[in-house]
Amino acid sequence: MNDTPKTYFIKTFGCQMNVYDSQRMQDTLAAQGYAAADGPDNADLILLNTCHIREKAAEKVYSEVGRLRKLQASRRAAGADMRIAVAGCVAQAEGEEIISRAPAVDLVLGPQSYHRLPSLLARVAAGEKVVETEFPVEDKFAALPAATDRQVRARGATAFLTVQEGCDKFCTFCVVPYTRGAEFSRPAGEIVAEARRLAASGVREITLLGQNVNAYHGEGPDGREWNLARLLRELAGIEGVARLRYTTSHPCDMDDDLIAAHGEMPELMPYLHLPVQSGSDRILAVMNRRHTRDLYLDLVARIRAACPHIALSSDFIVGFPGESDADFAQTMDLVEQVGFAQAFSFKYSARPGTPAATMPDQVPEPLQAERLAALQALLRRQQADFGESLVGRRFVVLFEREGRKPGQLVGRSPYLQPVVVDAPAALMGTLARVEVTAAGPNSLLATLPPGATGDAMARAAQHPALAG
Ligand code: 5AD
Ligand code: SF4
Repeated sequence: MNDTPKTYFIKTFGCQMNVYDSQRMQDTLAAQGYAAADGPDNADLILLNTCHIREKAAEKVYSEVGRLRKLQASRRAAGADMRIAVAGCVAQAEGEEIISRAPAVDLVLGPQSYHRLPSLLARVAAGEKVVETEFPVEDKFAALPAATDRQVRARGATAFLTVQEGCDKFCTFCVVPYTRGAEFSRPAGEIVAEARRLAASGVREITLLGQNVNAYHGEGPDGREWNLARLLRELAGIEGVARLRYTTSHPCDMDDDLIAAHGEMPELMPYLHLPVQSGSDRILAVMNRRHTRDLYLDLVARIRAACPHIALSSDFIVGFPGESDADFAQTMDLVEQVGFAQAFSFKYSARPGTPAATMPDQVPEPLQAERLAALQALLRRQQADFGESLVGRRFVVLFEREGRKPGQLVGRSPYLQPVVVDAPAALMGTLARVEVTAAGPNSLLATLPPGATGDAMARAAQHPALAG
């Protein structure tokens, strides 16, 4: 091998699934002898892992490549080289167009082709411009190399693990069924093996990822089909796994088994991201969401019956084509009824190729902005109320990074809020019981009770409902 290994720099846009994909590509590149560069300036390979879900995604990528092109030119002038690759959902959606509009790009690869990265890079090295946007038949995840113990440890005590990919729901606003393809569940055995490796390398919390994660229906090692609840129960039994989360779910796939798991499994964190998008039945129908407002409200009631202290999160789109003031009022009303611990909300943006993009009655931007501001004010108030309600409470956090001030560690509450605590550095990566002293808009402050040591509590203690 060459004395100076090649270096790479990955810039990731968008969702947690892209973060996981970027890690798997890092692992692939590391297995090929590449080393991580500390920035784009001195990298031999720059990889943009892109997102296409909302506005101007493609334009952002083109302007990013425009900046990199200058870097590429100066490196070439200095006798070095720099290859540019565009991966992710923009790559899938734009394909060849990227190379024609941005000739500085050497490789375009869609999300289903990451396991082919080494052979594609070999073609690039031979001087070819390569576009790979097929949906190959082989299991990409099985073909990607696993992270080494060192790589996992460097990423800390929390990890993402993609268990399901793609979507068959075809909401009329969404590009995912086109960019990620048909719904696919990884075999359970493969997931359990990956989780075991993560736990053996110090990971305490695993977040299972999928565009439609609660539709998970992978083949189990017993030859039967496993649902998400079954998979979660198996993962909870792995030594070292203290906390499990999953995201993102669709209301129609929230089965009784999964709801029951929230009441029964101490490892399953009492937090659920359950996008509703709108509170108006008329808009939900045009969105092709396949559920009504009542179905959602009923679901929330059943989930809360199983796990009364669960924190709910959601996604909302305002200004969908045809949305009237009355429709929007229904969304505000649903938010009032449910009471969310946190949420994401967006102005509708037309995605080329999706049915909603050509629907009549597109809502003008100023009206979208007005509705978004009203919704976000309400959601912010609910988030603040939820934070306030936790002051004085005790629960377990998992410390995952250093705080801004010396001597501080930041962990996550069971409800996914960042919690800032004065704590010894030795507690990094461990679970500790803390007491909340104050709530800010986006985080909590807490103290460690005297004599506290990380991980010295019963597993049940991290589940407030079971801890008593
Ligand atoms: N416009 C605005 N928001 C969108 N989302 C998905 N597609 C669009 C779009 N075209 C939002 C949805 C989804 C989240 C990931 O992004 O709320 O749940
Ligand atoms: Fe997109 Fe989610 Fe609808 Fe699938 S269920 S089409 S990923 S919004």
